[in-house]
Amino acid sequence: MISNSGMIINARLATMRNDMGAYGAIERAAIAWKDGIITYAGPMSDMPVQADIPAHHVEDAHNRWISPALIDCHTHLVFAGDRAVEFERRLQGVSYEKIAREGGGIISTVKQTRDASEAELFAQSLPRLQNLIHEGVATLEIKSGYGLTFESERKMLRVARHLGEHSGITIKTTFLGAHALPPEFAGRSDDYIVTVCDWMQRLHEEQLIDAVDAFCENIAFTVEQTRRVFECAKNLGLPVKLHADQLSDMKAAALAAEFSGLSADHLEYTDEAAVIAMKKANTVAVLLPGSFHCLRETKLPPVELFRKHGVAMAVSTDLNPGTSPLQSMHLAMSLACTHFKLTPEEALLGATVHAASALGLEDRGRLLAGQRADFVQWSFKHPAELSYWLGGNPVHSIHHA
Ligand code: NIG
Ligand code: FE
Repeated sequence: MISNSGMIINARLATMRNDMGAYGAIERAAIAWKDGIITYAGPMSDMPVQADIPAHHVEDAHNRWISPALIDCHTHLVFAGDRAVEFERRLQGVSYEKIAREGGGIISTVKQTRDASEAELFAQSLPRLQNLIHEGVATLEIKSGYGLTFESERKMLRVARHLGEHSGITIKTTFLGAHALPPEFAGRSDDYIVTVCDWMQRLHEEQLIDAVDAFCENIAFTVEQTRRVFECAKNLGLPVKLHADQLSDMKAAALAAEFSGLSADHLEYTDEAAVIAMKKANTVAVLLPGSFHCLRETKLPPVELFRKHGVAMAVSTDLNPGTSPLQSMHLAMSLACTHFKLTPEEALLGATVHAASALGLEDRGRLLAGQRADFVQWSFKHPAELSYWLGGNPVHSIHHA
């Protein structure tokens, strides 16, 4: 925890600013902050006198690296139970789709989440949040979508809000009522979409929703149904994001762009026309290598096309009990490099500044005067190590605004 004002000298900064060299690096640097906002991040030689910082609030970094705190912009962190038995079945060759169609998969987590009290759900979710925070995450998103009744969706969103209050870090909530068709609505998916829109409005009145998401896929909801969900969100003034083109080319990323989505996520099957539409709409491509890895997918997201057209790429855990039981942003970055061939610099941009954009946040993700003073001091020798080690935790200390 930091005091009201402070300064760290003799640091190396990975500012992640795009108007400088790799990592926006500055050697022999200092960072100063006041009331949770960075007041200076630059070379020590150019630093104005920080008259109001008491000497005992000045720390020597001994040449350690400092980067913006990490941001996990796509998680399903609030859920009850686990799906370890399903994991065993998948290893025996049963597909994720087959398990989902048999009423397992997402629906099995829905049953467990409905049965849990709000206090139990909080208690089960908190250690997962702490694991992320321990690695330097200071902002994250949490989706609903394992309740699929009004009351249990509300319960999930309330738990997400309480996790934010309890931990003191920023948590953005996303309403994912259109995650799967609940058993009560079997054969009536259009009716369910009408119901989702009604819940959205009521949960929005309680200020429980920061953004709206859907699972647009042949095992979930069609483009037309997703469009109706997005129309409701638009009428309420809520931003949208989308689970898009994960298992097939649904033209879902293009739909997210059409609604000026904050992000389109997964994107393994996204085509070039959609990539161009994403660029025009400033929609961030959120890459989720954890689910790709755990599902042993082979179809890669079009990273070359994102680079070619200048679409910002974020990297996230997709932390969930089915496809990505991944409680580590460092591992997500490593998997993004190994599977998707991101450079370690792209992975860190994807875990900071681009992840912030995917949440509609412009006040964090870079080390720059005026940004939030959320940053991490690391024990590694080079920032590429964040994506290099599998396991271990190179955090030296964490500063939250
Ligand atoms: O992001 N794709 C849909 N939703 C999650 C999976 C959720 C689950 O299997 O429980 C995902 O991969
Ligand atoms: Fe997801």
